[in-house]
Amino acid sequence: MFSAARHPAMISGRRGGKTVASCVKAFLYAHEHPGALICLTVNTYPAIRDIIVKTWYSLFGAGLGKMWDYKVADATITFPNGSNILLRASEDPDKLRGLTLAAFGMDEAAISNQHEAFQVLQATLSQVGYPHQGWVTTTPKGIRSWIYQRWVKNQLKDGAELDPEEYVLMQAHTRDNTYLTAEYMASLEASYGDTKWAQQELEGEFVAFEGQAFPEFDENVHVKSPPVGMKFKREVAGFDWGNVRPSAIIECQQDQTGRVWVTREWYKRRADLGEILNAMGDFPNRVYCDPTAKEEREFLQRSGVGARKARSNDFALRVSLVGRRLALVAGEPGLYISPDCPNLIEEIGSLTYAKQRGQDILNDKWEPGSDDHAFDALAYALMELDAGARGRPLPTIKLQWGH
Ligand SMILES: Nc1ncnc2c1ncn2[C@@H]1O[C@H](COP(=O)(O)OP(=O)(O)O)[C@@H](O)[C@H]1O
Ligand SMILES: [Mg+2]
Repeated sequence: MFSAARHPAMISGRRGGKTVASCVKAFLYAHEHPGALICLTVNTYPAIRDIIVKTWYSLFGAGLGKMWDYKVADATITFPNGSNILLRASEDPDKLRGLTLAAFGMDEAAISNQHEAFQVLQATLSQVGYPHQGWVTTTPKGIRSWIYQRWVKNQLKDGAELDPEEYVLMQAHTRDNTYLTAEYMASLEASYGDTKWAQQELEGEFVAFEGQAFPEFDENVHVKSPPVGMKFKREVAGFDWGNVRPSAIIECQQDQTGRVWVTREWYKRRADLGEILNAMGDFPNRVYCDPTAKEEREFLQRSGVGARKARSNDFALRVSLVGRRLALVAGEPGLYISPDCPNLIEEIGSLTYAKQRGQDILNDKWEPGSDDHAFDALAYALMELDAGARGRPLPTIKLQWGH
């Protein structure tokens, strides 16, 4: 909180006090540097209200109207000394360009791919007369994320060295937050159990996920929008019904060379059938559905959606279809995912095979707690697009796990 380094990072488990620390840091900065323009980000617009504004009011609510004000329409916290704190969503990095900031703080910086937003914000640190600072607060994510690269390895992906005095890392465990009750901690620990997820989500550690399903997935390579005006020869959607877990709809478009572009996703926890039907209106009418969700498929069919049963529900086939598409041939993958699909990107980057205690990696199920619905929806669509699944010989199934 008090680090004066140019880019401090506070990495901790869930509820480790990161959002609180970031808000307090911004408050102190605004207070101590009259006229400063500061920007606090979180990944999405709804999260601004749910995470930052909520925390801000809980910490400083008593000072409202005296020490600060909140201009809802501008999503800006104002101070009588002329300092302002803009609350923005990093999912829209273009809206951050053109600012002239003294400081910024990115909360939940490891969710989806916010590297571009970080770079954009870095370039905006140019308000004259202020000690420039840009901090991040987040739970860690694997050892291939840009956060790990910058703050643990002090390197960029191309190997360029970063100054360790600028990139200062502070790590904390969830239980270090003395404001959490013992009951709450116990329930968290019970729900994560003795898993790698516990190390990441509670201990705040950067974990190498042994058994990662798609080690070849690289956001720098596979995340890309199709060129404007690109002509497609086929489009299909995949749908996986989630009940209390997220339901997912994925749109795949196939270009003239056979490459697949995932152009859109819809992803929602506890979605009901009405909401799903509504969402389907924006997707290709030909939708390949979770073969086990018969009732849901029939409901969609009765409602006019071209819902069909996906060809197979075989776990290894799903993994293999996606893995083969991600593989590079002559430097290019067979599948690109638009940055508009953060949940699919997140799932593919983190899906990990389950491991039995002290035993081998199982290759027929995911680590408990993994979300795989966007992945499944993609696999159902690929079963239709990929020759192997349409009656020709199935692809050779080669499961791979790193390390
Ligand atoms: N310094 C603090 N003072 C008061 N409450 C705190 C403090 N640090 C953390 N908390 C409480 O701990 C909880 C988790 O903090 P939060 O910043 O939301 O965690 P994170 O962002 O790491 O998930 C919140 O309910 C918050 O009120
Ligand atoms: Mg938080």
